[in-house]
Formats: sequence, structure tokens, C-alpha cells
Amino acid sequence: MSNIAIKIENLSKSFGKGESKVTVIEGADFSLNKGEFVSLVAPSGAGKTTLLMMLGCVLEPTSGKITIGSEVVYDDEWKVKDDRELRRKKIGFIFQAHYLIPFLNIEENIKLLPYQNGESKKVVRERVDKIMDYLDMKDKMKSMPSELSGGQNQRIAIARALANQPDIILADEPTAALDKKRAISVVQMLKKITREQNVTIIMVTHDETLLPYCDKVLHIVDKKIEVVVVEDGK
Ligand SMILES: Nc1ncnc2c1ncn2[C@@H]1O[C@H](COP(=O)(O)OP(=O)(O)O)[C@@H](O)[C@H]1O
Ligand SMILES: [Mg+2]
Repeated sequence: MSNIAIKIENLSKSFGKGESKVTVIEGADFSLNKGEFVSLVAPSGAGKTTLLMMLGCVLEPTSGKITIGSEVVYDDEWKVKDDRELRRKKIGFIFQAHYLIPFLNIEENIKLLPYQNGESKKVVRERVDKIMDYLDMKDKMKSMPSELSGGQNQRIAIARALANQPDIILADEPTAALDKKRAISVVQMLKKITREQNVTIIMVTHDETLLPYCDKVLHIVDKKIEVVVVEDGK
């Protein structure tokens, strides 16, 4: 079995047409292995969110190829019958704001997606119990999002991303709303997840002090992706 989690080849993305056309990514290539913790760093407006949303099959590229695991999902056009299903089953998302549904409790928030995927109550319960135990949040199952702190809600957002057992988690500035100490604790948790669950995590961040925790850093340079391997990381 291949160890590659995601691979992009000659990927490009432009917005608009004619004079108002803006090319954000042009001819980008890279591949990431399973279980890697990777950050994506670039100035504001450089295309981080655009790249992440293409990797997550949310935004259609202009051209190129995206392979997730052993499945070609895009090759100048979508190659999957149901991109929503692919997204639900293989990819987890974490955002800057936790986007928990305010009128559902924590347990209901986390179980929503696995239930939507048609999984049985018993299977979901066992898995979510394990995840909440793992994240040390088991006593918060019946709490409402408004009763938790920012850092706790972000951990719940991680739990929710893990609940459908994704191969890849895409995190767009997940620590931006947190203070330093909580940001590091969230990043350490994300790293632990990559190690123990063999999940690949790509995290957009502006915070350079978080980079030593990563295995690789992706930079967007001249609309292409440069991959830097982190040596002697934390
Ligand atoms: N839907 C869109 N339509 C037109 N331009 C867009 C759209 N989404 C993003 N862009 C442009 O693409 C560039 C990259 O945006 P984005 O990926 O959000 O950057 P980042 O996340 O690095 O700040 C920006 O110039 C932005 O204006
Ligand atoms: Mg962005």
C-alpha cells in the first residue's frame, strides 16, 4: 500500500475571466505522506484558503490533478461521482471559529456527521466515547458550546473532525483565536493525532512559533508550493 495521503500535480486555480482574471495557484506540485503534520504559510491573499479548499474538494481547480490516497479525485475535472460523499468520508475540516451549532450539545454536534454518513448509533457512540476520552473532554459531552472556553470548543471542533475517521484533516488557522498557551496545546494535540491515528493534517497558520511542531512547512512562492522539511522539530 502506498504511503501517500495526498498528491497534487500541475494544479492551477484562477478566478474570474478576461481582464479581471486572477491566477492564485499555477502549476503547483507536492505530495504528503500519511501521518504527517504539515503547516501552510504564506502572506494574506496568497491563496492558502484557496489551496486548502481545493484539497478538500470544496473548490474546483482550473486544471491539474489531485489524488487522495489511491483515488484520483480531480484530473482537469472531478473524477468522483459524489464529491460530497468523498468529503464527508475522507476529509475533516477545522476552522478558525469552531462553528459548533449553538443549540445542540457537544455530543450532538460531534455525532451529526457520522449519523449523516449513515453509521449506526452503536458504532458512533463507541468511537465518539474514545475520541472524547482521548481529548480529555469526556465530561463535556452534555455541555452546550456556550458553556465552554475558546480552547475547549476548538478541541471539540477537533473531535468533530475526527468523528468520521478522515484520512486528512484540513485546518484553516485553527489557533488564530487562541492565546499562545492554548494555541500550543492545540498544535501538540494535532501532532499527537497524526502520530497515533495516521491522519495527515494540513494547518494554515500565521504563527511562526508553531512551525517547529510540524514535519513539513508548505510555502506559496510565485503561485507554486515549496515544501520545507522541518529538521530537529519539537
Ligand atoms: N471566490 C473568489 N472570487 C474571486 N477571487 C477570489 C475568490 N476567492 C479568493 N479569491 C482571491 O484569491 C486570492 C487568494 O485568496 P485566499 O485563498 O483567500 O488567500 P489567503 O487564504 O492566503 O489569505 C485573493 O487575491 C482573493 O482575492
Ligand atoms: Mg485564508
